[in-house]
Amino acid sequence: METTMNLKLLVWRQPGPDAPGKMEEYDAKEISSDCSFLEMLDLVNEDLIKAGKQPIVFDNDCREGICGCCGMMVDGVAHGPDHGITICQLHMRHFHDGATIVIEPFRSRAFAVIKDLVVDRTAFDMIQAAGGYVSFQTGSAQDANAILVPKEKADLAMDAAACIGCGACVAQCKNASALLFTSAKVSQFALLPQGDPERKARVKNMLAAHDAAGFGSCSNEGECEAVCPKEISISNIARLNRELIRSNF
Ligand code: FES
Repeated sequence: METTMNLKLLVWRQPGPDAPGKMEEYDAKEISSDCSFLEMLDLVNEDLIKAGKQPIVFDNDCREGICGCCGMMVDGVAHGPDHGITICQLHMRHFHDGATIVIEPFRSRAFAVIKDLVVDRTAFDMIQAAGGYVSFQTGSAQDANAILVPKEKADLAMDAAACIGCGACVAQCKNASALLFTSAKVSQFALLPQGDPERKARVKNMLAAHDAAGFGSCSNEGECEAVCPKEISISNIARLNRELIRSNF
């Protein structure tokens, strides 16, 4: 049943990458429980614009959990309190009337704040460019389907390929490690015959790009898996480690 609520927002405001930032307080009034979290921010921004103030800047595009653009810390949790969804899929019914909500950008040395809640995730592009591709020509759709792949491996590869590169794994990890992302991108090809030509170079080059970007190491906390909106398994990190050992022989 639809209800309305009044909320207090504590939001990180930062005018630019080199400018100092600070938390600012806003009222979100008469918000419907049917609103999405981003729609709630839209309404707050409408009030700010009407008052001649700068709206809160945040990343978004599809608002369907597909593109990976959105992402922020809500009460200390990447993508907020619900499980297996992005912040654009979160609804206000998960909050109660009178609540104070703390909203911050994803934090990592490798994710510089561009403005307010928007961070620069170019480092993910660099990791992907270092090896997240195949050069093997599979031909047309029919030819590609002629390469037999065991169902179990195809399913695992598809699960890994579900990563949307949002960066929640990094933001939640106390080491700011991007190994869940990197391992998903390595795994999706390591499980398929099409990934074989670059197999050894891929894992080494993607890990080198990961480390060069300033991401930390994995210490098996599992926080990344817990907040991943696509429920990517940390078993991919184990596969990445096996791929690295294998690449030395
Ligand atoms: S806006 Fe595309 S995943 Fe949230």
